Amino acid sequence: MSYKQRLIELGKQNKLILRLLFYYYCYLNKDLTPPQLFNYVGGEEFLRLGKGYFDLIKNHGGVKPDHKILDIGCGIGRVALHFIDYLDENGRYNGFDIVKYGPKWCNYKIARKYPGFAFRYVDIYNKEYNKNGTLNADDFIFPYKSNSFNFAFATSVFTHMLPDAVSHYLKQIQRVLVSDGIFLGSFFILNPESEKNMPHSRFNFKLVNKHYGVINKENLEEAIAYQESYLNKIFIASGFSVISPILYGGWSGRQGLVGGQDIILLKKTPER
Ligand SMILES: C[S@@+](CC[C@H](N)C(=O)[O-])C[C@H]1O[C@@H](n2cnc3c(N)ncnc32)[C@H](O)[C@@H]1O
Repeated sequence: MSYKQRLIELGKQNKLILRLLFYYYCYLNKDLTPPQLFNYVGGEEFLRLGKGYFDLIKNHGGVKPDHKILDIGCGIGRVALHFIDYLDENGRYNGFDIVKYGPKWCNYKIARKYPGFAFRYVDIYNKEYNKNGTLNADDFIFPYKSNSFNFAFATSVFTHMLPDAVSHYLKQIQRVLVSDGIFLGSFFILNPESEKNMPHSRFNFKLVNKHYGVINKENLEEAIAYQESYLNKIFIASGFSVISPILYGGWSGRQGLVGGQDIILLKKTPER
């Protein structure tokens, strides 16, 4: 048996060991991009997609280098890593996620070296991402002080969360934002235009009730789309107003202004 064949055989017998070695190698090298093997957030183009969201947050959302930023459902730092060179010494970046591996990677690769960054794991149940989670998204209190962030965002997160959880998260976001704070969220929005196009796309959502639709009725949280009118209601009920225009994405096959999901910018409504 050749040297190469012996290595392949060894690899087959010791898959776990090789995986562990690879895992430690990835942690120890300087690369901030996780290898495809650990990239559970989807999308092979990790850097391009993350940079796309970063550009939207900066150019459309108006985030500034000295802002305090909250990344809800931060994953494995696909967006966070673009803020490393952007934030100044007054800026701060917090993120949390329900898949343990994500914040762990972000803390090791980013927060350990850059003190303005911190990431947390929270053990919330989600059928798609954390089947053994012990907490409910519907009543989870964000572990941050009220009025402590200028900007919050959730990219490709509410597209995996059910209505009560989305409503509750919006109220939490409203609580932690300062009085003129901004939230940027990505959604699959159902309206006449997307409904006309989506039967021909890979996202052909089927309505569960009049508020939302899903791709897979066995696993609702695989992908969820919301009726635009329903979103507008819960935004107002959570203390937000929509900043126009909504940037509709090309997910349904429509001619989108942005690549994938629809982007909504919300402003915290001043308290009366
Ligand atoms: C498609 S990934 C996007 C990750 C990241 N926002 C990005 O753009 O790279 C969806 C993320 O939402 C997270 N997630 C799902 N439900 C959540 C919840 N209730 N609270 C926080 N994060 C959640 C998942 O763990 C996963 O990391």
